[in-house]
Amino acid sequence: MTHSHGRILIVDSNAGAVDELREILSHDGYEVSSVSNPKDARVYFEQGSADLILTDLQPPHTDGLTFLTELRASFQDLPVVLMTANGSLRTAVEGLKAGAFDYLSKPFIIDEVRSVARRAVEHAQAFSGRPQGYDRSGKDEEESPFGNLVGSSASMVHVYKAIARVAQTDSTVLIQGESGTGKELIARAIHASGPRSDGPFVTVDGAALADSLLESELFGHERGSFTGAVSARKGLLEKAHSGTCFLDEVADLSPALQGKLLRAIQEKEIRRVGSNASTALNVRIIAASKLPLEPLVRAGTFREDLYYRMNVVTIEVPPLRDRSDDIPLLVRRFIHLYGSSKTTPVTDISSEAMELLRRYPWPGNVRELEHAIERAVALSPHAVICPEDLPPVVRSSLPQSLARAQGWVTLEDLERDHILRVLDSHQHDMGRAAVILGIHRKTLLRKLRHYGVTTGNAVS
Ligand SMILES: Nc1ncnc2c1ncn2[C@@H]1O[C@H](COP(=O)(O)OP(=O)(O)OP(=O)(O)O)[C@@H](O)[C@H]1O
Ligand SMILES: [Mg+2]
Repeated sequence: MTHSHGRILIVDSNAGAVDELREILSHDGYEVSSVSNPKDARVYFEQGSADLILTDLQPPHTDGLTFLTELRASFQDLPVVLMTANGSLRTAVEGLKAGAFDYLSKPFIIDEVRSVARRAVEHAQAFSGRPQGYDRSGKDEEESPFGNLVGSSASMVHVYKAIARVAQTDSTVLIQGESGTGKELIARAIHASGPRSDGPFVTVDGAALADSLLESELFGHERGSFTGAVSARKGLLEKAHSGTCFLDEVADLSPALQGKLLRAIQEKEIRRVGSNASTALNVRIIAASKLPLEPLVRAGTFREDLYYRMNVVTIEVPPLRDRSDDIPLLVRRFIHLYGSSKTTPVTDISSEAMELLRRYPWPGNVRELEHAIERAVALSPHAVICPEDLPPVVRSSLPQSLARAQGWVTLEDLERDHILRVLDSHQHDMGRAAVILGIHRKTLLRKLRHYGVTTGNAVS
């Protein structure tokens, strides 16, 4: 492999732990180096660099936390993940307070190591502006191939591929996705990357207008064709001539309009309201809907024939909560967009605030995230967005514990979260979780009761 996903430096004197991590991380495409103590790590830094440091909290020769503080002072953008032996949660908390990105407990849970590494490296690359060891020649994780569209998750890459495939064709495209997922942005990207890009991009909002108005809005009208039609007017479909017509919220079109639209698409011609003459229709249609259309077809509220016309190619845009890996890149884009115009430019975000953003489920998707950042930028008196700049609903989305006291966590919170993480990673197998946590099964049960965690789906 010529390019790696990032460079990781392990600082640990325990050869077994190093081997285990090396195996997991190299398998995921990282370049892994290791040193056995912080002194060697310093030498390593003089010669090269890393995107992430995984350091044991009890290395010999120096206190792990002092090392962490030193690292933070010299390399602010560099995420440091601490590794702690069973039960040393107190040290983990101290570490998080001192600015560690996250912590991993030994023995390692493979999926946890992988996900922490991925998040941390992504964080480093998104925030440092100096991605290292990352393949920048092909698909860039920062600049998407489609201008304003940001995101490097597998599902967004899937969307990019679909855009690239359909842009060169003239087929009708249906874009489905929840509100605020970027449907319009995708429609614009299709238009801009295809042969019609010199033509107009015209939006028709199916939800905005009453039926009769929408009909004349879409198809145009002749003078006197209805009360108020004082002069003849071109419809939006006609205005989109040689370009693209974006039919937003198609699910809201009435059955009558659906029929008229179908005819126009099939016959490739339109007739203004009140006219007998028809004009040729030379537009590419891209339709969008928040609701999946298929159930509406089954329920009889959306015409099946029109559905098949539009559904030649469908692009499904996943909700943001299913691609939270895109959040750091989006946040960075929005900070750049809104932060630079302030007198004190806002240029960054604290890792606690980022973690809150990553955990919130974003029912309003990217639009809601964009508004949250715009607001945070306006509120923040500093160059860095902090948890208190975020909307209350986002701040309180964490297991409330984690958001407590301006982002600091208590030992209990950390213990609870850690227990839940271990349980989640082991199919709620209580026996295994207890072994991993190094406590008796009964103690685990007692703790779960204490934290009010129901063990209904736990394997005991
Ligand atoms: N992948 C993305 N990268 C950057 N910005 C995005 C992305 N997706 C959405 N946005 C931004 O989020 C906002 C909402 O996007 P858009 O209007 O395209 O969503 P939509 O799916 O059409 O929503 P609705 O169904 O409510 O009309 C816009 O400001 C857009 O620029
Ligand atoms: Mg829209």
